[in-house]
Amino acid sequence: MLSGKPFSGKGIIITGGGSGLGLQMAKTMGSYGAVIHIISRDREKLDRANNMLKEHGIECFTYSSDIRDYEKIKEIVQNMMKDHEISGLINNAAGNFISRTEDLSMNAFLAVINIVLTGSINITLEVGKNWIKEGKKGSILSILATYVDSGSPYVVPSATAKSGLQAFTRSIATEWAPKGIRANGIAPGPFKTEGAWKNLIPDDMAENVMIQRNPMRRLGKKEEIGELAAYLMSDAAEFINGETIRIDGGEFNQGAAQFSMLSMLPDSMWEQMKERRNKK
Ligand code: HXC
Repeated sequence: MLSGKPFSGKGIIITGGGSGLGLQMAKTMGSYGAVIHIISRDREKLDRANNMLKEHGIECFTYSSDIRDYEKIKEIVQNMMKDHEISGLINNAAGNFISRTEDLSMNAFLAVINIVLTGSINITLEVGKNWIKEGKKGSILSILATYVDSGSPYVVPSATAKSGLQAFTRSIATEWAPKGIRANGIAPGPFKTEGAWKNLIPDDMAENVMIQRNPMRRLGKKEEIGELAAYLMSDAAEFINGETIRIDGGEFNQGAAQFSMLSMLPDSMWEQMKERRNKK
C-alpha cells in the first residue's frame, strides 16, 4: 500500500507483537523502515520474533512484561523513550476465550478486561504523557473486534473490554489531536492466528463455517491487516482520526442486513420468482 521507507528511523511499539497479527504488523511496518519495539509476556515468543524480524533486516527491540503490570510497563516505556525515538503505539495484546457468561468467575472476566482494556490504557497513558511533555507527534492504533458495534454472546469479557477500548481510543483521539496525537482502531473479522484459533475456534468444522458465512468465502490474510495498520499509522493517513476501520470481507454488514439470508436462494428460485412476477 505504501512505498519506500515512510517510517525510516521511527520507533513503533507493538504490545503482544511476539506472534499472530502483532508480529505481522511488526514485519510490515519494519519493511517500511520502522524500528520495532515489542512488549510481550512470553520471552520465547519475543526471541523468535526478534530473530525472524532481524532475518528480514528489521531493527527490533524486545521487552518482557505482562501488559497488566502498570509499574513495569511504566518503567519500560520511560527507559525506552529516553533511548529511542518513538512515534507510534499499537495496542494489540489481547486475551479471549469462548464461554457461557453464567459459567464465568469474576477472575475470568477480569483476566480479559485487565489485558485488553486496562493493559492498553496502562501503556497509552505512559506513551501519551511522554509525547505531550516533549511536544512530539504520535499515532496510536488499537486492535478491536467487529463486535465493538454489536456486542457478542459467548465472548462477553472481550466484547466489554474491546468496546471500552474503542471508547478510550475515540476519546483520546479528540482530546489529544490538538497536541499532534492521532488515535484510530482496526476491527478485524476472521483472521487465523494461533492464539485466536486455539481459544475461539474449536475445530476444522467451525473454521469451515466461518469461511462459508463470510461474503468473500475466505478468512482474512494477515498481510491485509499489516498493510492497513501501516497506512493508518503513516503520515499518509494524517487526517484520519478517531475512526475504526472494519476489515472483515463485509461479514458484519451481512449479519446486520435484513435480507442477507436471500443469498442462500438457488438461481432456480430467483428464476421462478421472476416468472411469477412476469405472469401477473
Ligand atoms: C472459562 C476461563 C477460561 C475458559 C481461563 N479462565 N480460561 N474461564 N473458560 N476457557 C479463567 C480461569 O479459570 C481463571 O479464573 C481466570 O480465567 C484467569 O485464568 P488464568 O489462566 O490464570 O489467566 P491468565 O494466565 O492471565 O490468562 C489469560 C487468558 C488467556 C485470557 C485466560 O486465555 C490468555 O492469556 N490468552 C492470551 C492469548 C489469547 O487469548 N489470544 C486470543 C486473542 S484473539 P479462576 O476463577 O479459576 O481463577 C481475540 C480476537 C477477537 O481477542 C476476534 C475473534 C474473531
